[in-house]
Amino acid sequence: MTGPAVRANSLSFEWATPAYPARVELHISLDGPGDLSTRMYDQIRAAIVAGRVQPGQRLPSTRELARRLAVSRNTVGVAFERLLAEGFVHGRVGAGTFVSATPLPYTDVRPATSPLRPRPVWDRLYEPLVMSDVHAAFDFRPGVPDASRFPYSTWRALLTEQLRPGAVGSAAHIDAAGVGALRSAIARHVGVSRAVRAVADDVFVTSGSQQAIDLIARVLVEPGERVAVEDPGYPPVRGVFTAHGAQVVGVPVDAEGLVTDALPDGVRLVYVTPAHQFPLGVAMSLRRRLALLAWAERTGAAIVEDDYDSEYRYGGRPLEPLHGLDHTGRVLYVGSFSKVLLPTLRLGFVVAPPPLHDALRKAKHLTDWHTQVPLQAAAARFVADGHLARHIRRMRAVYAPRHQMIQAALTGPLAPHLQAIPSAAGLHLTALLPAGGDDTAVVARAEARDVALQPLSRFGIGAGGPQGLVVGYGAIPTDRIDEGLRRLADCLENGPTA
Ligand SMILES: Cc1ncc(COP(=O)(O)O)c(C=O)c1O
Repeated sequence: MTGPAVRANSLSFEWATPAYPARVELHISLDGPGDLSTRMYDQIRAAIVAGRVQPGQRLPSTRELARRLAVSRNTVGVAFERLLAEGFVHGRVGAGTFVSATPLPYTDVRPATSPLRPRPVWDRLYEPLVMSDVHAAFDFRPGVPDASRFPYSTWRALLTEQLRPGAVGSAAHIDAAGVGALRSAIARHVGVSRAVRAVADDVFVTSGSQQAIDLIARVLVEPGERVAVEDPGYPPVRGVFTAHGAQVVGVPVDAEGLVTDALPDGVRLVYVTPAHQFPLGVAMSLRRRLALLAWAERTGAAIVEDDYDSEYRYGGRPLEPLHGLDHTGRVLYVGSFSKVLLPTLRLGFVVAPPPLHDALRKAKHLTDWHTQVPLQAAAARFVADGHLARHIRRMRAVYAPRHQMIQAALTGPLAPHLQAIPSAAGLHLTALLPAGGDDTAVVARAEARDVALQPLSRFGIGAGGPQGLVVGYGAIPTDRIDEGLRRLADCLENGPTA
């Protein structure tokens, strides 16, 4: 062995052995983050993987390395033991440590491509929106609640309670349907607030309502079967059914909600948002609700009722959910904590009739065993102790003036450019552009003025649907609404809408 070539905190070893007379170089630098053993391990491993040190070659001894690098022998020993344990080197007592000849399980070279391709259906599905990527001073996007009012200290206390030894029971997986206390609390909550008649056994806790839809698709829909959805409607739900191989058919929506007369034949399942149609915001009339239930009874179809934001009503009588009108057990009621708490918690549920319980439990188990237990247990206390009802009351008082301000603007100063769709619930209002309008152009102009909102056409199936603006008021602070709407008015006035 010759060398060392000393640098600050680093050494280059050059050595030759009788078996490998060519000189080899191993450079080890101790600079940088991480403990010394790990740095040494990383660099020797990299030299082996890159082929700079050949199989069969003997490494310098631990004693030699320790002496020259001025580190303890133990430090070098730890690095060598890792290399030995992972099969990069092998040792012979008295003879030294040799680079292994076996094919290496690792490579440091990341393949730039691969022959593997996803199933074709994934090419047909849209790119997921990353909602947290948008930062606008005037954020009118729908689907985002007011995170500044989230009851952080109550949740912190409830979660902390769950994160103590013993609090979450054993470390074993629980019933896939969810924590019993939360299932009971949800059954009581939807019974009182939405007249949904359910017992705890009917409730399945899911990772957001999105997963509830996914489980329902797995349990009820065979590939190739028809699923009817509202058009315009909620794209992530269409995506679930498409990904499961269903034939997704759009059904138009008018001022009374889903046009039941337009439902096609041979439908296995229909997905609706009757309390507050997404995205138009209309409520489904009682006449249509009854027509939908009668149609389902006649055809044998299942109905999925997504009640995603009906907790917030600003006048008018709350309309009874389809679930409450259903006497034949055809309606699955889906709820979400995304609007009343935070979408990032990923907490939702489905209330399902008994013949589906076993399959839903199996589907949930196969998907992810169950939703996080500490989160479920904290949510159970949050609902059962009355925090949820209080929070909803408080937030209704926050959102009501925002709803009113936007409604007043849509029907007042913005009326020459937009036709507001009457709506008395939820966290967004929608307005139509005149014929020939281009909502994506308006939204792009708004974005340039730091105003974020959604074009209605985004939610339609195919081109040619209504053009308009979907204006949310969950995220925007009340004192920014006037200025935000002024900017929006400028975008509508100063620029072609077609
Ligand atoms: C129609 C509809 N359903 C459900 C949700 C909530 O979904 P999740 O519970 O998966 O967050 C939203 C949120 O924007 C929605 O618009």
